[in-house]
Amino acid sequence: MERTCYNTDLSLSDVGRKVTLVGWVSKRRNLGSLLFIDLRDRSGIIQIVVNEDVKIPDVRNEYVISVKGTVSKKEVPNKLLKTGEIEVIAESIEVFSKAKTTPLIIADETDALEDVRLKYRYLDLRRPSLQKNLMNRAKIVRIAHEYFDNNGFIEVETPCLTLSTPEGARDYLVPSRINHGSFFALPQSPQLFKQLLMIGGFERYYQIARCFRDEDLRQDRQPEFTQIDLEMSFLDQDQILTIMEGFLKKVFKETVGYELKTPLRRMTYAEAVNDYGSDKPDTRFDLKLIDVKGILSQSDFVGYKDALMIKAIVIPNVAESTSRKVIDGLNLEAKKFGLSGIGVYKVNGNSLDGSLTKFVNADIQKSLIEKVNAKTNDIILVASGKPEQVNFGLGALRSKYGHELGYVKPNTYDLLWVVDFPLFEKDIHDGSYKPLHHPFTRPTPETAQYLNSDPSKCLSAAYDIVINGYEAGGGSLRIYNQDMQKKIFEILGFTSEDINRKFGYFVGAFEYGTPPHGGIAFGLERLSMIICGTDNIRDVIAFPKNLKASCPMSSAPQQVDEQQLIDLGIKVDK
Ligand code: AMO
Repeated sequence: MERTCYNTDLSLSDVGRKVTLVGWVSKRRNLGSLLFIDLRDRSGIIQIVVNEDVKIPDVRNEYVISVKGTVSKKEVPNKLLKTGEIEVIAESIEVFSKAKTTPLIIADETDALEDVRLKYRYLDLRRPSLQKNLMNRAKIVRIAHEYFDNNGFIEVETPCLTLSTPEGARDYLVPSRINHGSFFALPQSPQLFKQLLMIGGFERYYQIARCFRDEDLRQDRQPEFTQIDLEMSFLDQDQILTIMEGFLKKVFKETVGYELKTPLRRMTYAEAVNDYGSDKPDTRFDLKLIDVKGILSQSDFVGYKDALMIKAIVIPNVAESTSRKVIDGLNLEAKKFGLSGIGVYKVNGNSLDGSLTKFVNADIQKSLIEKVNAKTNDIILVASGKPEQVNFGLGALRSKYGHELGYVKPNTYDLLWVVDFPLFEKDIHDGSYKPLHHPFTRPTPETAQYLNSDPSKCLSAAYDIVINGYEAGGGSLRIYNQDMQKKIFEILGFTSEDINRKFGYFVGAFEYGTPPHGGIAFGLERLSMIICGTDNIRDVIAFPKNLKASCPMSSAPQQVDEQQLIDLGIKVDK
C-alpha cells in the first residue's frame, strides 16, 4: 500500500513535497470553497485542505482514508499541533472504509462513562492519551528484555494451567474435561516454577508473566495483570537490589527522561508504618505521623485514656478555610479508613479549637502544639485506638490530604525499598500465623532464631519497591534449607497432607540440591501507571476488566452451553 510516512514525520522542511498519507478523519470543517480535514494516524494529526475544484468522495468522522497531496506552509500556524506549521493540499482522496457515528468522542477530553469507553474499547483506544500509555508500556517491556538479556537472564515461560500458587488471593479455576472434578488453577504468579528453575540450574530467569488473582478490584488492581518476574541464584539481597536498581534507572531514563540516583533509599517496614502509616509510603511529601500518646493520655477524653496508641498529623495553613461541614466529612472519611473517629483541632496561638477541646486542658493543649510543632491556622488531626488501626487509618488520611492539598507535584518521583517486613502476620482472633509475603520467604539471619521461640519476632528477607506511594514490586530471598521450610509450614499450621497435596512436588525438589536463591516481581501495570502519570490501572491495559471484574465489550464472563458443562461434569447451582 502506498504511504509516504506518518503524519507527524512531516515538517516545514517538507514543503513542496508530494505525499500520500493514511488515517482516520478526526474532524472535518466545510467552509464552502474549502474543506478542512484533520487526518489522524498513530503519530498524530495533520491538516488536509481540499479546494472546491478537487472532486473527492464524501468523508465523515472516523472514515479511514488515503490522501494524495502536496505539503504546504500554513499561513497561521496552529500551536496545538506538532504539524501546526504545515498542511497538505489534497489532490485526491480514497475512502478505505466508512464509519457510523461513534458512541464516544475520539479525543483526550471525553465525557463518556467508563463502561461506554470499555464497551467500545477499540474506539477508546484511538484516543491519543491511551495510545501514548500503551506505547510507554511497550517501551518498559522492551527495556526489560534488553536489560535482563544483557545481564545474563534467560527468558523462560511457565504454565498457565497449573496448581494453586500461594500468593494469598482466590484462584481462578479451570475444570478438567478429562478428569471430572479436578481443576487447574491459573497462576497467581510463577512463584513455584521460578524457584524450580533455580533448582533446574538456570541461575538467572526472567519472564513477562501473566498472573490471575480473583480479589476485590481497586484503582491499582486487575484480576489479570502482568509481572516482570525474576529469580536469581547465588546472589545476596544487596546484589539483587543493585541489579533491579539498574533496571529501574534505565526505565525512568528512557521513558520519562528522569535520572534516578542509586542506590535507592532503604526504609524498614517499622519506620514506614510508624512515620507514614503505610508499608508503601508516598515519600514525596512529609506530613509524618507523630506519637502524642504521652501528652493526650493525660486528658479527660475516654477515647484517649485507654488508647494503646495516639498519633497526630499536622496539616499546615488550612484552619481558616476548613468549615464545619468539611470537618464532619473528615470524620466520615476516618471511619472509612478503619478509625473510630478523628479529633480535629484548629491551632490558635497556644490554644486549640475543636469539639474535643473541652476534655483537653490548656496545659495539654500547649504541650500538644509544641510537640507537633504546629502554628496558628494549622489543623492537628488526632487518631487513637489500636496501633494497626491508628497507623493505617491516619496513614490513609495523610495520603488523601497530601494529594488533595497539592503537596505532590506532578511528574515527580520518589523511589525506595521497604525492607525488614515481619515474616508472619498473627491473626488477632485465633492467634494463627499467615505469611506476610509467601511461605517460601527466608527469615533474616538475625531473627531466624525466633522461629522456635516466638515467630512473631521474625523479620523476613523481603523487599518491596515503593514508588510514589505504590507497591510497584516485591520479592524476597527464599528458603533453601528443607528443615527451615518444614518449620515454616509447621508454624503456618500446614499438615503433612496439606503440604503433599499443595506443594509436594515443590518440597520434593528441594531434596536434590537447591542453590541459595531469591527474586522479585514488578507489577508491569503499576510501573506503567507511574510512568504514564495516571492513577487508574485501566489506562495502561488495552482491554481491562471493569470494577465488577467483567468485560463490557465481550460481556465475559458468560454462561456456557449445556453440552460444555456436561463435558466437564459440572452442574451449576443457579
Ligand atoms: P506480589 O504478590 O507482591 O509478589 O506481586 C508482585 C507485584 O505485582 C503487582 N500486583 C498487581 N498488579 C495489578 N493487579 C493485581 N491484582 C496485582 N497483584 C500484584 C504489584 C506487586 O508488587 N511471587 C511474588 C514475587 C516474588 O516473591 O518474587 C509476587 O507475586 O506491583
